[in-house]
Amino acid sequence: MTASQTLNSRIRHSGLAAKIVSAADAAALIPHGATIGMSGFTGAGYPKAVPLALAERAEAEHEAGRPFRVRVLTGASTGPELDGALARADGIEFRLPYNSDPILRDRINKGEMDYVDMHLSQVAPMVWEGLYGHLDFAVVEVSGITPDGRLIPSSSIGNNKTWLDRAEKIILEVNRWQSEALQGMHDIYYGTRLPPHRVPIPLVKPDDRIGEPAFHVDHARVVAIVETDAPDRNAPFSPPDATAKAIAEHILDFLGNEVKKGRLPAALLPMQSGVGNVPNAVMAGLVEAPFEPMTAFTEVIQDGMLDMIDAGKLRMASATAFSLSPDRAEEMNANANRYRDKLILRPQEISNHPELVRRLGVIAMNGLIEADIYGNVNSTHVMGSRIQNGIGGSGDFARNAFMSIFMTPSTAKGGKISAIVPMAAHVDHISQDVQVIVTEQGLADLRGLAPKKRAAAIIANCAHPTYRPLLEDYYDRALAASWGRHAPTLLDEALSWHQRFVETGSMLA
Ligand code: COA
Repeated sequence: MTASQTLNSRIRHSGLAAKIVSAADAAALIPHGATIGMSGFTGAGYPKAVPLALAERAEAEHEAGRPFRVRVLTGASTGPELDGALARADGIEFRLPYNSDPILRDRINKGEMDYVDMHLSQVAPMVWEGLYGHLDFAVVEVSGITPDGRLIPSSSIGNNKTWLDRAEKIILEVNRWQSEALQGMHDIYYGTRLPPHRVPIPLVKPDDRIGEPAFHVDHARVVAIVETDAPDRNAPFSPPDATAKAIAEHILDFLGNEVKKGRLPAALLPMQSGVGNVPNAVMAGLVEAPFEPMTAFTEVIQDGMLDMIDAGKLRMASATAFSLSPDRAEEMNANANRYRDKLILRPQEISNHPELVRRLGVIAMNGLIEADIYGNVNSTHVMGSRIQNGIGGSGDFARNAFMSIFMTPSTAKGGKISAIVPMAAHVDHISQDVQVIVTEQGLADLRGLAPKKRAAAIIANCAHPTYRPLLEDYYDRALAASWGRHAPTLLDEALSWHQRFVETGSMLA
């Protein structure tokens, strides 16, 4: 087949069009032990065909008695065709930085592979430093290729710029399912450097555009292009339940009071919202709230944010990826033009950059697994040892935010677990980075409080009524008998709730 025969509406550069191959042929280029930077962030924009073919290869190699495992770096979570398929085939030796796939999670928690859970803003600079070794391949989904050979990103940017700049060889997936109208929403900043050559990032408003709309790559390194036509892993959101609604109401009341007290402007400050049903419910609540016109400087664009844009409440949102329900994703593909001047997708080292989060004064809202009575937050490790997903961008935002809010239902697993515990079994966010904790029971504003006052507020406002007396009892005895009285702790008892759960399946005696 000649180049001109393969030129199609999505691949408009003849030199690159000549590189189209099957997914199996592209996967065959990748050897055992390779380090691969793959696109993908929160189930959006990940390669969908090459990883599947790679998984088939891993299975065939294993059946033949040969080893086949690769090292996979991504933006964040991907989809079943990537993390799920490769994990099922036992094809991953090492993975970073964030995962929500259940099969991969299981392998990590069985200790069968290495997983590095790290701040999402730090992946790209650390790869540039060489801390994760030589990058053999980039496997990146794009939505098209321009006549001058630039790559139009798809529904996420993540670390793609870094993978494309650093990898020895590049495999592209051009996905026809992705809307061509996404073109122009992306802003790829090419000015990041390693110290001592860093300069300020010239972004002072969430809507500033500081980069380019497409990636440029050295075509000589593009070794294969695969055409695909498959949707992103878009999971439906459950409609907000009573718990999510109560959490959202507490947050909205609190923000309203902050505006009344003059501590926040009437349009609030740029919002960051974590992924999940509760953050989505908060966004749904903001549609009815009096704050406008709001902006978002966040990681992912969820359904709730599109609703806010449609309602005229949200002026614009800056993020690194979409994370939409299947219906909203189809709608976005059909109506991307309507949103083009209101949405900006950036590399994750920019969307999550501490310098920018601090400069803009972001209001950060993230989920948690458990918080202790002093407000140390565990976002990642159930009972201290089993990873759920990873820290994601929560640390990038929480430490640097103007206001850092963490939210959770007050219990998990049908009430067998309290989200408020005497001591967190793992800490991702130290108490200094946690200003507000919210459950359906209420909200604890911890700003300006010393540890004992923080404990009183968290137990009284956030703990579930079943666990509140148990926490009060623990805390009273800690006040009386702790070795130090700054943050009273009973060392032999502080983690006993977790131990009880591991032994009996419930934190309750
Ligand atoms: N003990 C045990 N399991 C717990 C738990 C606890 N204290 N708290 C939550 N869980 C479990 C839930 O039972 C649920 O398990 P399931 O999937 O088997 O039903 C799972 O964790 C998810 O919890 P859910 O209540 O549905 O909330 P969520 O979807 O909002 O997720 C986090 C909560 C903490 C797991 C999620 O917010 C997260 O991964 N955070 C870290 C990354 C982050 O903040 N990213 C955003 C930055 S931009």
